[in-house]
Amino acid sequence: MIDIRSLPLVPKVILIAGFTIGIVSFILFLRYPIILILMKYSPQYREFIKRTLGAKKIKKTIMRKIIFVTGNPHKVREAGDILSHLGITLEQNNCGYPELQEDELEPIAGFGARWAADKLDYEVMVDDSGLFIEALGGFPGPYSAYVFDTLGNERILKLMEGETNRRAVFKCVIGYCRPGEEPYLFSGEVDGEIADEMRGNGGFGYDPIFAVSGVTFGEMGEEEKNGLSHRYAALTEFAQWLKKGQ
Ligand code: IMP
Repeated sequence: MIDIRSLPLVPKVILIAGFTIGIVSFILFLRYPIILILMKYSPQYREFIKRTLGAKKIKKTIMRKIIFVTGNPHKVREAGDILSHLGITLEQNNCGYPELQEDELEPIAGFGARWAADKLDYEVMVDDSGLFIEALGGFPGPYSAYVFDTLGNERILKLMEGETNRRAVFKCVIGYCRPGEEPYLFSGEVDGEIADEMRGNGGFGYDPIFAVSGVTFGEMGEEEKNGLSHRYAALTEFAQWLKKGQ
């Protein structure tokens, strides 16, 4: 063991400075896990940390949780998988929101996000998606949910019988909003075609009839769909914006 007191001044100062820098770096490196643990297990520290850091900063830096307002658990799973790489967790809320009758997805998502953020007094996201079939003039588009519930995939395939132009686009608009603020919109789309018949048991909604390069979303595994879907494209745009520190 070296007796530090017996060292000459310069090595003594270097040693003490090195030791101090080491301790400070270690604390800085571990500060978020430490804060998280203290907040989780000690109500007394939780209050203290909230007062000193401010609830907004805590939310922004260490515990980003966004409420996903939707009644669709498939959407939550897909979006959760895509966003989890960024340390963002989603919490599903089923409170619903008024769906505007519009020809585009953007105003529907924007209005829904703003309405839900104000109602829940929390940052929220909503997802409005639609299938646009070229030969049907973009139908069902923003009416996709209603058409799926009333006609379903079989009847859409009937409408497309004998049609050679089978091109279609699946679009997704993510609306994100904080209470009292204007919504932000992020869109993504994927080009594909309407299959001749329903194929595959995976996914949900129009997945069995919407194909990309000949393979329906219903035939793809979740990972494959989540790597190229309209939702993936919109959420990637959203995630890049969040990463900039929003
Ligand atoms: P909305 O976004 O919930 O209004 O969805 C419109 C319709 O499209 C619903 O019938 C959904 O089931 C369907 N839908 C939304 N996203 C997807 C998807 O990723 N694959 C297949 N169908 C979808």
